[in-house]
Amino acid sequence: MVMRRVVKLTAFGAPQVLSIVREALAPLAPGEVRVRQTAIGFNFIDIYQRKGVYPLPLPTGLGFEAAGVVDAVGSEVAGLRVGDRVAYMNAGVGAYADLRNVPADKLVTLPETITDAAAATLLFKGMTAQYLLRRTYPVQAGDLLLVHSAAGGVGQILTRWATALGAEVIGTTGSPHKHEAARAAGCVAVVDLNDPDWPEAFLTASGGRKARVVYDAVGKDTLIRSLDCAAPFGLVVCYGASSGKAPAVDPELLNKKGCLFLTRPSVFPHNADPATFRANAADLFDAIARGHVTVDIGGRFALDAIVEVHRAAEERRCSGALLITP
Ligand SMILES: NC(=O)c1ccc[n+]([C@@H]2O[C@H](COP(=O)([O-])OP(=O)(O)OC[C@H]3O[C@@H](n4cnc5c(N)ncnc54)[C@H](OP(=O)(O)O)[C@@H]3O)[C@@H](O)[C@H]2O)c1
Repeated sequence: MVMRRVVKLTAFGAPQVLSIVREALAPLAPGEVRVRQTAIGFNFIDIYQRKGVYPLPLPTGLGFEAAGVVDAVGSEVAGLRVGDRVAYMNAGVGAYADLRNVPADKLVTLPETITDAAAATLLFKGMTAQYLLRRTYPVQAGDLLLVHSAAGGVGQILTRWATALGAEVIGTTGSPHKHEAARAAGCVAVVDLNDPDWPEAFLTASGGRKARVVYDAVGKDTLIRSLDCAAPFGLVVCYGASSGKAPAVDPELLNKKGCLFLTRPSVFPHNADPATFRANAADLFDAIARGHVTVDIGGRFALDAIVEVHRAAEERRCSGALLITP
């Protein structure tokens, strides 16, 4: 019997509801691979699920992304061998563990140039930046973009990659001590969200120009005023709810604010098909190889410290990506 350590959620609530249990790992099903995980990524969606904002059937595991080494291969698996280095980001919840069975078609093989730590902190967030920059709107050189939470995990990657594509990024952060991280990621100016007139501050920083695209994952606290920062016929991308669920928007308001487009996309449908997932991952790995995407690991934690990981993220203490090691 193969035993493992895994984080379980038996009730929704504060970070303390997370506990680590030792349990037997199920035998491999056809098409599955057992991964000995060496690096696990934290994503803000893990908080929504822990709190029950996006409710999961309980008890449940948590976490969407990890990297590691193939430890055993089930039947009906082609193209993967014991010892291969792999990563995943859309195999369902349960990545907070030292060992996990994963469907082979949800795995990508890692190039030698990408460390396990980089993969586990870049894949989910990088694939998010990938569809936001390529498909939600194909970003062009010269576009002005407003990126909220520009010092955060997705925010830094989005900013770096957009800058490499020739766009000009103005970022926001929730505190002045994060400005430097946002600037280091490529922001030409950083606006403090504590400024009650932050949309005005954005327009001052841009010289009065409005953004072709506003990327808003803050939600409740910012979405309506984000509409004031988008250029006529521009796009507002509501892709998260860090401050709480975004309010409903009357279509007439989009008309008044300049015939705006509003969308609420997700990384999962963009990567549901295995061939598309691999093609998107190849695009991300290429951007990493070119130096267009790098990761800033803002905190490293042991799996045993999972409660502290959630506290640090929820209290907005961190910038960059958080890494968990089993
Ligand atoms: N739709 C998708 O496909 C998709 C995929 C991945 C992630 N996301 C979303 O993208 C966002 C960023 O994800 P991430 O994992 O990279 O997290 P993160 O940016 O590292 O952390 C979230 C950030 O939200 C900001 N924030 C604003 N109001 C907050 C509040 N009331 N409480 C806590 N944080 C608040 C904080 O930055 P400041 O303090 O600088 O404001 C914080 O650093 C999340 O909203 C996530 O759900 C969406």
